Amino acid sequence: MKVTLAIATFCVMAAYSSAARTTTTTATKPGRFLSLPVPAKCASRPKEFSYRGKNMFLTTHVPALANKKVDWLDGRNLCREYCMDLVALETQEKNNLIFRVIQQNDVPYIWTAGRICDFAGCENRPDLEPKNVYGWFWSATREKIQATNRIPQGWGYNPWSQTGHKKRPQPDNAEYDINQTKEQCLSVLNNVYNDGIAWHDVACYHEKPVICEDNEELLRYVAATNPGIRL
Ligand SMILES: *[C@@H]1O[C@H](CO)[C@@H](O)[C@H](O)[C@H]1NC(C)=O
Repeated sequence: MKVTLAIATFCVMAAYSSAARTTTTTATKPGRFLSLPVPAKCASRPKEFSYRGKNMFLTTHVPALANKKVDWLDGRNLCREYCMDLVALETQEKNNLIFRVIQQNDVPYIWTAGRICDFAGCENRPDLEPKNVYGWFWSATREKIQATNRIPQGWGYNPWSQTGHKKRPQPDNAEYDINQTKEQCLSVLNNVYNDGIAWHDVACYHEKPVICEDNEELLRYVAATNPGIRL
């Protein structure tokens, strides 16, 4: 069963930009928005590997993007220009594939589409409380992420790390304790805490490589508005 959050992608963007305004990064990054797809980039997007018909690529593999590290929103936008979005890890099978890609390429971490729903549009939602357990979702598809504190249904392990900066199971919002910067975004960290490869909540301003995945909404939109385009 696919459970989606009744919130617009726009809200994610708006929330992110208002959050950004309250941090020290504000001066350089005022008012941030989601990017629109660029038809020519969609048509020539890197198709490095695929899962269930969705093309994906890891930025470190694409010569023009090889050294690129981006914060979470810039990561979404980098992908969106290609009619893609940050990768969502909805199933164990897909998660294992992505873990393998990260390990085989010796990448220390990537951004995923995961985000906590703690912005306008997420209030008065008892089903999202407590947020650190039930409030996470895949922003690319608005699909909910299962409870963080147990093995997800259909999985054989909990993808969230059982340790981190505070030596506590993730998500732990650790940077908030240091300087009130919330850990609102979901990163796969490759053994950073001697914990193997696993999910961690991380403050969204950190800059990381990303894995982009085809986004059906954006591909449909570009196909509909560009007759004859080959995607
Ligand atoms: C908060 O602490 C982290 C970790 O020490 C640091 O990287 C970051 O720049 C700090 N952020 C602010 C807003 O001071």
